[in-house]
Order: sequence, then C-alpha cells, then structure tokens
Amino acid sequence: MKTNKALLAAEAKSLSQTARINYFDIVIESGKGALLKDVDGNSYIDLLASASSTNTGHAHPKVVQAIQQQAAKIIQYTPAYFANVPAAELAQKLAKIAPISGPVKVAWGNSGSDANDGIIKFARAYTGRQYVVSFMGAYHGSTYGSLSASAVSLNMARKIGPLLPGVVKVPYPDPWHRLPNESEADFVDRMFAAFLEPFQTYLPAEETAVIMMEAIQGDGGIVKAPTEFVRRVVEFAHQNGILFAVDEVNQGLGRTGKMWSIQHFGVEPDLMSVGKSIASGLPLSAVVGRADVMDSLAAPGHLFTTAGNPVTTAAALATLDVIQAEKLPERSARLGKLAVAFFAEQAQKYAFIGAWRMYGLDGGIDIVDPQTKKPDAAATTKLIYRVFELGAIMISLKENILRFQPPLVITEEQLQQAFAILAQAFAELDAGKLSLPANAAQIGW
Ligand SMILES: Cc1ncc(COP(=O)(O)O)c(C=O)c1O
Repeated sequence: MKTNKALLAAEAKSLSQTARINYFDIVIESGKGALLKDVDGNSYIDLLASASSTNTGHAHPKVVQAIQQQAAKIIQYTPAYFANVPAAELAQKLAKIAPISGPVKVAWGNSGSDANDGIIKFARAYTGRQYVVSFMGAYHGSTYGSLSASAVSLNMARKIGPLLPGVVKVPYPDPWHRLPNESEADFVDRMFAAFLEPFQTYLPAEETAVIMMEAIQGDGGIVKAPTEFVRRVVEFAHQNGILFAVDEVNQGLGRTGKMWSIQHFGVEPDLMSVGKSIASGLPLSAVVGRADVMDSLAAPGHLFTTAGNPVTTAAALATLDVIQAEKLPERSARLGKLAVAFFAEQAQKYAFIGAWRMYGLDGGIDIVDPQTKKPDAAATTKLIYRVFELGAIMISLKENILRFQPPLVITEEQLQQAFAILAQAFAELDAGKLSLPANAAQIGW
C-alpha cells in the first residue's frame, strides 16, 4: 500500500541524502491552489509554495491546460537547434516585461542555478574581466558557478572544492549586522564601506565583471537590503564599468508585491536570472539582460538540450497570463498587509519573536530565546512541527527563521486559517506545551 511511511522508507534506500533537506515525513500526492494533500490523505495549507516556485498555486487550470495542449502537440524538440512556437513567443514577452530599459534578450536554462552560471558567463564575456562579486548569505544555486557565488551553508562547499576561482564575497547589509541604536544612514555608510574594502585592497575594480545580488535575500532569511545601499552599489558598478546583476529566481514574479523585487529599489539591473515560478514550477529558467551583453557569447556558450522546451515555455506563457489576469503582484501586496497586521500583533505578544520582515506575501520571522535574544533553533523546530501537525506546511531558514511564502493565489479564508494555526502554535510554545519531534536533529538546514 502507498503510505507516507512506506514510500519514504523505500525511497531512502535509493535517494542520496544530499538531495533533500529534511522537514516532515510526508509524500506529496496532489495540490490545488494553496492546498496540498499527502498520500495518507492529510490536507495542508501550503505556506512554502514549493520554495516560491508555484506562485500561481498548484494545478492552476490555465497552466494545466497549456501544458496538456502543448504536450499533445510536441513535448520536446531541442531549442538548441530549432525554434518552437511557445519559446519564440515567451522570449519576446519576457524581454518586454523585464525591468531593463532598452533592447533586452534572453537565454534559456533549466534551473535558477544554471541561469546564475549564465550571468557569470555573459558578464565575463562582455567585460573581458574575470572577477565576480556576490554577497554573504546569498543562495544562487547548486551548480559550480552558482554555488561558488553562494554563502549560506557550509554543506555547499564542504568536500566540493575547489570552487570557481575569481569569486569574492562581500557582507550583505542584513539587520543582524546593524548595531544597537545605529541609524539607517550610519548603517548604510558602514556596510558600504565594508563593500568597498576589497576594491581598495586586493580586488581591482577594472578587472571586475559583475556584482551579483539578491536585492531581497531569500534563503538568507527573507531580508531586504536598504534601498540606499543598493543604489550606491549600482552607482559604484556603473562608475567602474562593472555589470549589476540581480537574482530574481526566488523573489521575482509577484512574490514581493511587485513583479520584480528590484522594482522596490528604483535601479535597473544589466542582467537578471529568472526561474522557479516562471513556468509554475516546470524546469525553466532564463538569463534576461541588456541585448549588447546577451550578444557577447556565441553558440553553444550557454545552451542546454531541454532549455526552452515547448511544454515549459507554454506553461510559462500561461503563468505570465495568470499573473497578469489575476493581478498577483497586487494581490501579494494586499494580502501581505494582512500578514503584516498578524505578525505585528503576535510580535507584541511574544518575546520569542525577535524580529520579522514582510514584503508582500514574503516573510521571515526570527525566533529567539526571550532572555538572550539569540537564535533559538529548538523553538523554531517545535513551532514548524506543530504548525505541520495543525495542518500547514512551513519550513525554517538559517535554523531560526520561519519562512512565509504561500502561493500568491491563496484565498483570504485560507490565509486566516493559516494565521489561526500559527497563533495556536505560538501560544502553545509560550505556554511551554511544545516538545521536539523525535527526528528533530534531522530537521532543517
Ligand atoms: C535566489 C535563488 N537563486 C537561485 C536558486 C537556484 O534555483 P534552482 O534550485 O532552480 O537551481 C534559488 C533556489 O532556491 C534561489 O532561491
């Protein structure tokens, strides 16, 4: 019989441990909108949206229909040799909606990771320079290039090196770097000085190709860099002939209350990576960038047999239609206000909520020891496990941050149900009623 337990036990014999970050012992069977079902028949409200890769919700009828119709016509003919109808249309559409003025071109990939590799390739090719600058706390992916630009988990470097040479990490201006009572202006000054330090000591700006950034870090804790900091970084890049690239894989496509996260900052990237939700979770990614930069590589410098595949690009066209028709960025902004009100109220009530951030339906909630204010990994695990028992899927980031990223189509009623579940879990934690699950040591990043 197919049960969560039996399937997981069978799978464990054949699945490498590196292929999953463990949370809850379930096997997903189906999904509809913001609801999930496991093979034992349990239902959950999804507060993770498949790691922000299903912003349009599960099995959106328009996306399903586009996939079915395209699959019946042709599933795959490699775009590396011949164009296909949906990919040809999608290239134009993506170029048109990119937050970049002037002519824009795209190159397809299969994952956010390879899109970030593409950014490194195009930037090096265009500038003829080798160095890449990225930020501490970044998650850019799991291929060698993207993993080399990441700095969020030791397991992404352990036993894997040597990594890509020429990648330099600078501090990210997250709130944990902010000193007590430091003003935002002083904080930006101090963090920008730290950003400049490599360029003043060992990193020649004239040999630097690109500065790559999640303007809002996802796996780093759902945390937004101050606007003035990003503005100064972009100004520095422009002054020195360095390209500025933004990773929109996690934060793009309406997640933060705008179509692209970089639109919160009043700056334009030269290049950006898109993935995850672009095809509602089918494997499609893209490097999107200034046409002159995107024309700096010749084929086959950045192509993949299945990238731009007709089924994935048909799904992406339908996804973009849904995002537009259902005004998902606006919906994210509007429902995000309800989340702001809810978490503000809870943070007033409970000292174990150290801080929280919410940008549309995109939030990070820090769980700390009420006395020491230090990260409380055990309390975080207790909370997410209780939330799971009560019927919602929520995971943690960096051991003590609750990750709040529901599908953007979540109904107001489902959102209120999720808040009720969270409120109950918070109250039970506060009352000392929660204990760690037996597999606590295996849970989380
Ligand atoms: C910001 C960001 N960039 C890139 C990636 C990598 O995408 P993928 O897992 O599709 O390769 C992720 C995945 O979590 C991400 O969050």
